[in-house]
Amino acid sequence: MSDLIDGEAVAADLRAELQSAVDTLADADHRPTLATVLMSPDPASETYVSMKQNDCEELGINARDIEIGVDEPAEELFETIAELNDEDDVDGILVQSPVADHVDYREVLERIDPEKDVDGFHPANVGRLVAGYPRYKPCTPHGIQKLLEAEGIDTEGKDAVVVGRSRIVGKPMANLFIQKAPGGNATTTVCHSRTDDLAEKTRQADILVAATGVPEFIDGSMLSEGVVVIDVGINRVDADNEKGYELVGDVDFESASEKASAITPVPGGVGPMTRAMLLYNTVKAASRHSGVDVALP
Ligand code: GUN
Repeated sequence: MSDLIDGEAVAADLRAELQSAVDTLADADHRPTLATVLMSPDPASETYVSMKQNDCEELGINARDIEIGVDEPAEELFETIAELNDEDDVDGILVQSPVADHVDYREVLERIDPEKDVDGFHPANVGRLVAGYPRYKPCTPHGIQKLLEAEGIDTEGKDAVVVGRSRIVGKPMANLFIQKAPGGNATTTVCHSRTDDLAEKTRQADILVAATGVPEFIDGSMLSEGVVVIDVGINRVDADNEKGYELVGDVDFESASEKASAITPVPGGVGPMTRAMLLYNTVKAASRHSGVDVALP
């Protein structure tokens, strides 16, 4: 049987370390502030944003909660972003995706001040990451690096296979794995919907990151013995229970855990780490903004 990688526990340790950084900033009269902006047609987005807000409040980070109706013009969102860019009290800005269908998310990202872009999605921050001197690392792949580090899983020289090429996970994950830096130095393969013979590629993995958004897409037959499996997916599938659904990952947990040396559960694996790394980036943004040095975990 494989070891279960406990993302809740690792995230709790990170939050405890971030707490001292928040306290240091607050003592210097600079309590960090994150503004979240929600203009989403997806009902799950509201839950995700309110979890992010709660995480901030628990640590003493100010959380500014802005909601814009999905039928409002794009200009409304753009003006909000411009105001938040100019506001000295705001350290970080996060516009939850997806945004309303008539709004171009790319334009949204380009309008956020890169210094306040705690998602790390602005092209200037993506460019810095690819060039090897990141400012804000995107939260999910950064959280995965921290999770591997906490589990004592070295990436150096390993075959890392990333399944999925999204802006939020796949692309930045691959870029972090190839960096000449701790948590990097992996030989990295990126697979996607046009990959031929996917199973042949995934069986090469020492570390497999599944980020397809397709429920239980990767199963044990596609894995080699001893692989470390990181499951990024959170998919609602119909279930015969009170809620009418259950959460499953992008990996078929049962068959994968027969092959894996270690595996993340869903929920309780990557999700809590993503949230912790948003706090990390917010604290980092506040430190950069205020000029007050803090120790980051
Ligand atoms: N939607 C799903 N994940 C994310 C994320 O990490 N950041 C933003 N802004 N939107 C998301």
